[in-house]
Amino acid sequence: MQNPIIAALDVPTAEQALALAQQIAPAVGAFKIGKELFVAAGPDIVRRVRDTGASVFLDLKFHDIPNTVAKAVASAVRLNVQMLTIHTSGGSEMMRAAEQSAQQTASQTGRNTPLVLGVTVLTSHDANTLAEIGCEPNVGKQVERLAQLAVHSGLRGLVCSPLEIASLRQILPPDIQLVTPGIRTGAEKSDDQKRTLTPREAMQAGASWLVIGRPIYAAENPRAAAEKILESL
Ligand code: C5P
Repeated sequence: MQNPIIAALDVPTAEQALALAQQIAPAVGAFKIGKELFVAAGPDIVRRVRDTGASVFLDLKFHDIPNTVAKAVASAVRLNVQMLTIHTSGGSEMMRAAEQSAQQTASQTGRNTPLVLGVTVLTSHDANTLAEIGCEPNVGKQVERLAQLAVHSGLRGLVCSPLEIASLRQILPPDIQLVTPGIRTGAEKSDDQKRTLTPREAMQAGASWLVIGRPIYAAENPRAAAEKILESL
């Protein structure tokens, strides 16, 4: 089995990100670069992490007109990332444009096509937030609806909360990759993640990849924390 741990490099500077990446690289399968680090350090941080030989998940959650998203995806492919995110609420045309751009740019540049992951309903949203913006207020139903739309639009993976993995596995084709944040080992102080599973529970429920931030980077010894999580699987 490949190492399914994606460590979130949720730190504000390139120097901190590279030091963390170097420390934990042997114990994780990939690194996630999100908005905080990308806006501060720019595409150069993606190149520098890729230069260490590690895989990168670029989590910028694109949501725009299809042409703009397709071009942003093409730029991400040229940065040679292995995974990236878009919002499924951008609709089927936007998702198809993103997937097509990933495949075309990869073949034009001789790279592997990155996994374009669809984000369904943000875990910060509840029935009130969905009703407020005119959506189906049942969060579970809205997640399933967007997940099916994503698969019909050609996406090969989704980001979902750990508590959605089991129900999505029942309705999606088995080759769809599910990437889940909200992982807690029980050892860390409580924080803003409310609906969590342990790494082992999430894998047993059917996750393909685990996005883990604070339980690794905020641990006293991040390398040891990552190794312990890997052993627990
Ligand atoms: O520190 P923690 O393990 O909570 O980090 C989880 C990572 O996954 C963060 O980078 C966070 O932005 C991201 N994420 C999340 N919940 C989502 C989507 C992404 O926690 N629904």
